[in-house]
Amino acid sequence: MSEVEEEKRKGGQRGNKKNGGDKKKPAMSKKKEKELQRQTEKRNAVMATFNKFYEEEWGAERWPKLLEALKKPVRHCMMMNKYANVEDVKLKLKDSLSDLTMLDFVSIPCYASKSHSRFPQPSKDRNNITDYYILDAGSVLATEALDIQPDDQILDICAAPGGKTLSVLQRLDKKYGRLTSNEIASDRRRRLRQVIESYIPPDVVEESSTVVGKDGTRYYGEPEQYDKVLLDAPCSSERHLLHDEKEFELWSPKRSIVNANRQLSILKAAVHSVRVGGVVLYATCSISSLENDKVIEKMIKKGKIPIEPVKMKLMIGERTKYGVFIAPDKTDGWGPLYFSLVRRTGVDKEYVPEDDDDEEEEDDA
Ligand SMILES: C[S@@+](CC[C@H](N)C(=O)[O-])C[C@H]1O[C@@H](n2cnc3c(N)ncnc32)[C@H](O)[C@@H]1O
Repeated sequence: MSEVEEEKRKGGQRGNKKNGGDKKKPAMSKKKEKELQRQTEKRNAVMATFNKFYEEEWGAERWPKLLEALKKPVRHCMMMNKYANVEDVKLKLKDSLSDLTMLDFVSIPCYASKSHSRFPQPSKDRNNITDYYILDAGSVLATEALDIQPDDQILDICAAPGGKTLSVLQRLDKKYGRLTSNEIASDRRRRLRQVIESYIPPDVVEESSTVVGKDGTRYYGEPEQYDKVLLDAPCSSERHLLHDEKEFELWSPKRSIVNANRQLSILKAAVHSVRVGGVVLYATCSISSLENDKVIEKMIKKGKIPIEPVKMKLMIGERTKYGVFIAPDKTDGWGPLYFSLVRRTGVDKEYVPEDDDDEEEEDDA
């Protein structure tokens, strides 16, 4: 039954009740009825184009299964914070333990709910450190692929709200390792800072974590500075769209093209910032290959800085031409998440260092 028919039915019921029942809810006005009709038609039209677009990409057999999985509520896990007091966490979760299962495909301790129920909210331990972060296990897996070493110098170029930044900080040594977390949007950057401060002790933040606010498409100020760069790119987020009617109405196939251009610009900057021999992990939560393998392909074929794909050893996910895709219909609900690991293999011969004054620096410390 359509939304309009459903509203009419309710109106009819209310009408019936009027002769002996609820007078508070009048039948829908003509104006509202028209507006609902318009919205339904718009949504149906977008859904038809959306289906056609992704059916072409995924095939008539796979697409309905993937779509069904995408429409289900997003699955999360609890990523335990190594800086939180273990005794406090054990005590807090003692009643949930039988429902929790430890994920075997990531090295940071992460727990999922066997019954897919909600976790108790994260909270502060005796030292004012938050105990765990709730996120998609695919996100932890993506940072796993970076094979972080305690002394790595890392850039997270699109970092807010901070799930992957936190998972990187779990693996760095505060004395020798360093993470720079970049986020262009000031409100999201504020949230990123709050997350870092709430999960990581002040002395560790002081020694190993920096937050900056540059435009990732123009992150050219620090050439060849990092061992590893994490690029979790802004993308079409189709799963999110399917759970947000208003956002979904705005979708069109053009969105992937626009996003892919921006993603390639950020990837160029990421590759520019990593040292020769270092790696960039490119990730999106899009299901469109335009935003995934095609971005990597363009960088390999047309980028001025040479890169090569690196094969990753992972326990879950489907291989794509240049990376891995974690699909919710194949992984018990995790994802979607695409990621690809590429190594910088040489220098950019055409690069001319920019004047420092031109750099788009914007830090709201
Ligand atoms: C997919 S989210 C990152 C999620 C984050 N890595 C995490 O795990 O919590 C992408 C982020 O990139 C930011 N962003 C978008 N365009 C950007 C740009 N040009 N430079 C830097 N950040 C950008 C968005 O504001 C958004 O916070």
